[in-house]
Amino acid sequence: MVKYVSEKIFIFVRFDGAKTVETGSIFQIKTGIIIKQPANYYRNPCNRPDETEKKALTRLAAATGENRDFGEISMIGKQKVYRYFRPVYISTGCLGCHGGDKQGETDVLGFRKDGLKSGDLRGAISVTVPIK
Ligand code: HEC
Repeated sequence: MVKYVSEKIFIFVRFDGAKTVETGSIFQIKTGIIIKQPANYYRNPCNRPDETEKKALTRLAAATGENRDFGEISMIGKQKVYRYFRPVYISTGCLGCHGGDKQGETDVLGFRKDGLKSGDLRGAISVTVPIK
């Protein structure tokens, strides 16, 4: 299900985990490109950060000023890849689910709220593109 949040942002809300995973891997098989939204605290297990993403999240959390996104060339096994990271911040439209009290309060979907406030880093968009 796609949830309309604002003019610019559509959030894919997972009601059937298996289907979400399936969609992700079909895209990955067809294009070779991996798109994730890693976060240190994540709801979807598909967004568990790998070691490179953990470092990227630390770098993004400390970043200030313009152009906080960055990319780098690295290896995954024997495959050369370009990895791109862009920060995802909490705005007022996110607070109904990601804001509030971390101590037990749940959002409309029954998840525990994250206890974040507007402007906090919630995670990143991580894109991995295989290159020759
Ligand atoms: C209707 C409730 C709701 C709203 C509003 C919402 N989210 Fe989420 N968010 C979720 C759920 C549920 C997930 C887990 C989705 C999944 O299983 O793929 C999630 C996942 C995420 C993730 C991926 C990391 C993870 O936890 O798996 C990020 C990043 C994120 N949200 C940021 C935002 C931002 C930024 C906004 C506002 C622009 C926002 N969300 C608004 C419910 C919401």
